[in-house]
Amino acid sequence: MSQAPIPYPFAEPTRLDIDPRYEAIREQGIVRIQLPYGEPSWLITRAADAKIAYDFRKFGRREGLTHAIPGLHNTEGIKIPSLLLNMDPPEHTRIRQLAAGAFTPARIQEMEGWVQGFTDELLDEFEAHGPGADFIAMFAHKLPVLVLAGILGIPKDKAFEFKKWIDISSDSSATPERKLEARDTTLDFIRGLIAERRENATDDLLSVLINARDEGDKLEEEELVSLAMALWHGGFKTTLWQLGTTVFTLMTHPDQWHDIKEHPDNMHAALGELWRWIPSFKPGRAFGFWAKEDVTFSSGQVVKQGEHVLIEFAVANRDNSVWPDADKLDFHREKPQAHFSFTGGAHSCVGQHMARLQIRLAVESLIRRFPNLELAIPADEVEFDPDSFMRGIRKLPLKW
Ligand code: HEM
Repeated sequence: MSQAPIPYPFAEPTRLDIDPRYEAIREQGIVRIQLPYGEPSWLITRAADAKIAYDFRKFGRREGLTHAIPGLHNTEGIKIPSLLLNMDPPEHTRIRQLAAGAFTPARIQEMEGWVQGFTDELLDEFEAHGPGADFIAMFAHKLPVLVLAGILGIPKDKAFEFKKWIDISSDSSATPERKLEARDTTLDFIRGLIAERRENATDDLLSVLINARDEGDKLEEEELVSLAMALWHGGFKTTLWQLGTTVFTLMTHPDQWHDIKEHPDNMHAALGELWRWIPSFKPGRAFGFWAKEDVTFSSGQVVKQGEHVLIEFAVANRDNSVWPDADKLDFHREKPQAHFSFTGGAHSCVGQHMARLQIRLAVESLIRRFPNLELAIPADEVEFDPDSFMRGIRKLPLKW
């Protein structure tokens, strides 16, 4: 007998809290939910079930193009077949591999000095401003734009002007018309850049992609445009919000802040734990998948072919069966396990090494330059953004 779907999400999340109602859901296994838009879905909160749903042989995205996609809002605007997020292997693999080549750990390591340079410049300005400086406006809003603009070969001034359209397209308070306008302006801008590079090739990623060949086939124009757009969309706001919540988490966990400063040799584990613990995407905001066949989950519940699943990976990251006392931020876990913050499977974040690098350099540089860093206002006065798709902080004034 099929269950009546539960209205979802339960509530707008408060700051970095995880709704206690997920505990009972996880006990139960997977449950049927209904988001404000689209078809019903299945909610996944167990780590073991997340692994099942990230298997691209069983679950895909393509089917979403002809369905009403479950979500908080109408997402008709992103039903573009050439968008990476709407593709399944093997077409997805072909295009993704081109982008992934630019973001391998080795390539990212080569970029470390360059990203450190931006980090230093921004922290110089931050320091010059003096205590009370807003880390979000002065640092988190700028670093990912500088990095992405550098990778794609977009001049700095144009990148900041263009950033406002990205702000609109990911702002849930913007009207659908305004979002479509933002999408079209973004597309035009990228098409213009591509035309420019065809005239004058440089050594940036866009020029590399234009000339990229895969088994003799060039990328189609629209695939190229979509890929450049995916990098902009995927790499900017995400890193911005994560920079803010990472610093906020450290500032509101004084023992862990002390620990990370005292144990620089444990930096890798500490940052991994921060990635796991910080709930990044808000409930209902992850991109789901459609079952390609009937699939049985860990509780024995079967998801039928053609049904949708929504993986709340921030909740799966708090599964006590994988991370004992999972709600605790513990930099010295005996058995650190891979987290889901970049999801898993075929669509896992292609820019994750770049994201990890920016967060690491920011944390290391803050420790080096401002060892006495603390919040300049009480923690409960730090304002979170109700309109962002990730948990995001609007203003983070710091003192040292
Ligand atoms: C804090 C930083 C970041 C977070 C939390 C994050 C998170 C994610 C997540 C959860 C996905 C999976 C989306 C899906 O299911 O389709 C994803 C995909 C993606 N990310 Fe990131 N991301 C971050 C930074 C970046 C950066 C810096 C870039 C590029 C420079 C990037 C580019 C992408 C792209 C292109 C995809 C789509 C991959 C695909 O569909 O195959 N991301 N990211």
